[in-house]
Amino acid sequence: MRIFILGVDGYLGWPLARYLGARGHEVAGCDLFLRRKWVEEMGSQSATPIRTMEERLVAFKENFGRELIFKEGDLRDYDFILQFFKFFQPEAIVHLGEVPSAPYSMIDVHHCVFTQTNNIASTLNILYAMKEVCPQAHLVKLGTMGEYGTPNIDIPEGFFTIEYRGRTDTLPFPRQAGSWYHQTKVHDSHNIMFACKIWGLRSTDIMQGVVFGTRINEMGDGDDDRLLTRFDFDQCFGTVLNRYCAQAVIGHPLSPYGAGQQKRGFLPLRDSIQCLTIAINNPPQEGEYRVFNQFEEVYSVTQLAQKVKKVGDEIGLNVDISNLENPRIEKEEHYYNPDHRHLLDLGYKPTHDVEQELRTILEDLLKYRSRIEEKKEALIPDVRWDGTRRKSRFLTEVRR
Ligand SMILES: NC(=O)c1ccc[n+]([C@@H]2O[C@H](COP(=O)([O-])OP(=O)(O)OC[C@H]3O[C@@H](n4cnc5c(N)ncnc54)[C@H](O)[C@@H]3O)[C@@H](O)[C@H]2O)c1
Repeated sequence: MRIFILGVDGYLGWPLARYLGARGHEVAGCDLFLRRKWVEEMGSQSATPIRTMEERLVAFKENFGRELIFKEGDLRDYDFILQFFKFFQPEAIVHLGEVPSAPYSMIDVHHCVFTQTNNIASTLNILYAMKEVCPQAHLVKLGTMGEYGTPNIDIPEGFFTIEYRGRTDTLPFPRQAGSWYHQTKVHDSHNIMFACKIWGLRSTDIMQGVVFGTRINEMGDGDDDRLLTRFDFDQCFGTVLNRYCAQAVIGHPLSPYGAGQQKRGFLPLRDSIQCLTIAINNPPQEGEYRVFNQFEEVYSVTQLAQKVKKVGDEIGLNVDISNLENPRIEKEEHYYNPDHRHLLDLGYKPTHDVEQELRTILEDLLKYRSRIEEKKEALIPDVRWDGTRRKSRFLTEVRR
C-alpha cells in the first residue's frame, strides 16, 4: 500500500515508518523538524541520541531494502501538501504532524495561538488536499483520549445513543478537553467528521492514550541504533511514564502531580504502532467517520510510579517517589471507564506485560543516563495552567 506519514520525524512517526517499511509498504513522509526545536526550547534533548533525517534515510534503505521518500515542508503550506499528494498518490494518510503537548500550549498566548493554528490549519489543509487529489484515500488521524476529559460516566468510542425528552439519537460523545492543545484535537475531530459528511472522505479518528517505550521490534538486523526513535523527558514533551523512567535511571524521585490519582489509558509504543497498522489495514467505508479509543490499560499516575519503582528496584536502581505540586488545573481524583473494543475486534493483541516493557525502557535508558543527567533541570515543571511560570515544589517526603 502507498502510505503517507505526516510528522514522520517524530516519536511515533519514525517507528511507524520502520514498521510499515519492514512489511513491504511504499512509505513517504514529511516533517519540518519542529519537535527537535521545541525540545531544545524547553532546555532539553532526547535521551536517545537520534540521528539526522539524512542518516535515518540511509539506515532505512540499508535495513529494509527500499527508499523512504521524504520531503521537508510545512503542513500549514497548502501547496506543499497538495504537490506531495499529487506526486505520491497516497492510499492511506497517517496524520501525526501536530504539536502534541498540553503544557507547551499553556505557556502563554503565543504558544497557545501557535498550537491552535498549527494543528487546526494543518488538518484543514490535509482534508482539502485529499478532496482534490485522493478522495478515496483513508485518513488515520491521531487525536487523544484527552478530548473526552474525565466525565463521571463511562466513555464510549466516539458516539453514544441518548434519549432526551422522549426522543432518541446517536450523537458524538461530549468532548471536555483540559488544555489548549487538547482543544485543537476536539476542533480537528469536528472538522474531520464534517469533511467526511460533505465530501464523502473516509477517516479513522484515533483517541490515543499515553504512549510509553523506547523501541519496537523493527530495529534492523543488528539492532541498528541509527533507527532509534526519540525519547523525551522534559516537562512539555515527555509523557508521564517515559518521564518516570528517565527519573528512575538518574536517581531522581518519580514525581506524580498533586494527589496522583489522575487516571489515564496507557499503551506501549509497540502497541501504538500495531494499532495504527490495524487501522490502516481495515479502512472505513466511503463517507464514514469512525472513532477508535486506543489504549491498553487504565492506570492512575501513582500506580504507574509504583510499577516503575518495582521494576527499577529489581534491577538495582533504588527508586524513590515524591509527589509534586500540580501545575495543571485538573481533577486529581475521578471516575474513569472508557471503552476500547474496536481495535480488539479487529485483531489487536495487547502486549500486556507492562513490567517487561518498563524493564526494556530502563535498560535502554541506562546507556544514555548522562544525556538525562545533563538536562535534568528540564524534569521539574514550571508551566502552570493559570498562565504564570513557577517551579513546582515537592509535596511529600521521598517514599522508598
Ligand atoms: N506520544 C503520545 O503519547 C501521544 C498520545 C496521544 C496522542 N498523540 C498524538 O500523536 C501524534 C504524534 O505524536 P508524537 O508523540 O509522535 O509527537 P511528535 O512531536 O514527536 O511528532 C509530531 C511530528 O510532527 C511534526 N510537525 C508538527 N507540526 C508540523 C508542521 N506544521 N509541518 C510539518 N511537520 C510538523 C513535528 O516536527 C514532529 O516531528 C500527535 O498528533 C499527538 O498529539 C501522541
